[in-house]
Amino acid sequence: SEQEAQHFINCIGSTPGFPKEGIIFRDFMPVLADAQALQTLMRGLEEALPVPADEFDVIAGLESRGFLIGVPLALRLGKGFVAIRKAGKLPPPTLSASYELEYGTATIEIEQQAITPGSRVLVVDDLIATGGTAQAAQQLIEASGASVAGFSFVMELTGIDIPDTIKQSHYSSLVTMP
Ligand code: PRP
Ligand code: HPA
Repeated sequence: SEQEAQHFINCIGSTPGFPKEGIIFRDFMPVLADAQALQTLMRGLEEALPVPADEFDVIAGLESRGFLIGVPLALRLGKGFVAIRKAGKLPPPTLSASYELEYGTATIEIEQQAITPGSRVLVVDDLIATGGTAQAAQQLIEASGASVAGFSFVMELTGIDIPDTIKQSHYSSLVTMP
C-alpha cells in the first residue's frame, strides 16, 4: 500500500557529511531493522525485478550490503546466490576486476567456478552511486563465461552519471534520491 511504501522510505537513514563533507549517506540498515519495512523491501524488489524471474538463473550479491538482500531474494525466487567480494576474501582460484574510486582504485573478486558458464545473472546491491562497483561485477560475470540479465538496486543516487553499460542494461531501483 501507499502507507507501507511511505513507511519504507521513512526508514531510510540520511546522514549529511558522512563519510565525507558534501555527501549525504543513505543508510538502508534501519529498513532491515523494521519488520514491516523489511517485508515491503523484499516484496518491492520482487515486484520491481528488471527482468522476469525466468530470464535469469542465479543472483549475484555485492559485498556487503548486497548480501543482505541477495540471499532472501534468491530464497523467494527459488534461485541460488553467488557472492562477489572485496579482494583477498575468497579462496583461489578467483577472477578479479579493478575500478576507479574517487581516490585510488578498488578490486572485487569472484570464485572462478562459482558461476556456471552460460548462466544468466541478476546483480543485486543496496545502492548505485557511480556504478563503478556494478560495472566491475559485470566484468567478473562475463569473465566467468556468463551474462548479466539485469541489475536490481534498492536506492539510486541522482547527480552522478552511471556508466552507459548499466544504463543500457535492464536495471531497476526502488528509490531515487540525491
Ligand atoms: C557501497 C554500496 C555499493 C557501492 C556503490 O558499498 O553498497 O556496493 O558502494 O558505489 P558505486 O556505485 O559508486 O560503485 P561499499 O563499498 O561502501 O561496501 P559495503 O557494502 O561493504 O559497506
Ligand atoms: N550510502 C551507502 N553507500 C554508499 C553511498 C551512500 O550514500 N554512497 C556510495 N556508497
